[in-house]
Amino acid sequence: MIELGVIGGTGALDLFEPLRPAAGELQTPWGAASMAPVPVSLGQSQAWFLARHGQPHRIPPHRVNYRANIGLLQSLGVRQVIAINAVGAIAPNLAAGDLVVPDQLIDHTWGRAHSFSDDADSPLQHIEFAHPFAGPTREALLAAARASGVALHEGGCYGVAQGPRLETAAEIARMAADGCTMVGMTAMPEAALAREAGLDYASLCVVANPAAGLDAEPISVAEIHRVLEQAMTRVVALLRALVMAPASKH
Ligand code: HPA
Repeated sequence: MIELGVIGGTGALDLFEPLRPAAGELQTPWGAASMAPVPVSLGQSQAWFLARHGQPHRIPPHRVNYRANIGLLQSLGVRQVIAINAVGAIAPNLAAGDLVVPDQLIDHTWGRAHSFSDDADSPLQHIEFAHPFAGPTREALLAAARASGVALHEGGCYGVAQGPRLETAAEIARMAADGCTMVGMTAMPEAALAREAGLDYASLCVVANPAAGLDAEPISVAEIHRVLEQAMTRVVALLRALVMAPASKH
């Protein structure tokens, strides 16, 4: 049984070796997932890979069926999820290309199906969420980074924006005042749904750009894609180090 799930952005799939074609079923009780997960080899180990925005990349962050994605991974036997999230840097110590493992978030998303507790037939859950990313997977990721020498920032607060537009400078100034050190569009409701589903969820953020208003130049989406593509080899190196760690359960 493959217990590790990797939820990634498009482009990452090319860096993994698919072992077999996709697992087939894409439909779930919550509708269609972004894609049928693909088993990939990761060093000596294996993981299920699911591209959050579909393969090819086409689903905007506010239209991702987060419940279907998490529900499908859970039904395949996944117990631990590493989510790869592109973010803009708010804190001055973060630069394009950096990796960050956040420990907090502030959710500004709206109108997304954000809970499995959604009707009278589903069990009502009030999950504990004070530390949204805390758990053994996050600890393993940090340990793997230290052991393998892949540089990353430990901790940070992820401000989750609705998208798909980028933010205004004032929105970023407000997020900074609130303590957000980075901004992205995809950690929620994914992290909360994973917790509801009993999956241990850690986020690995890739800084793609300075957030809105923090650089003299306007944000370039082409540049974001270039930075993300370059950073992905370090992401894969880190995931390989994670599954090779002696304490790893994968
Ligand atoms: N804002 C929101 N999401 C993002 C950004 C950003 O600046 N960069 C990459 N994802």
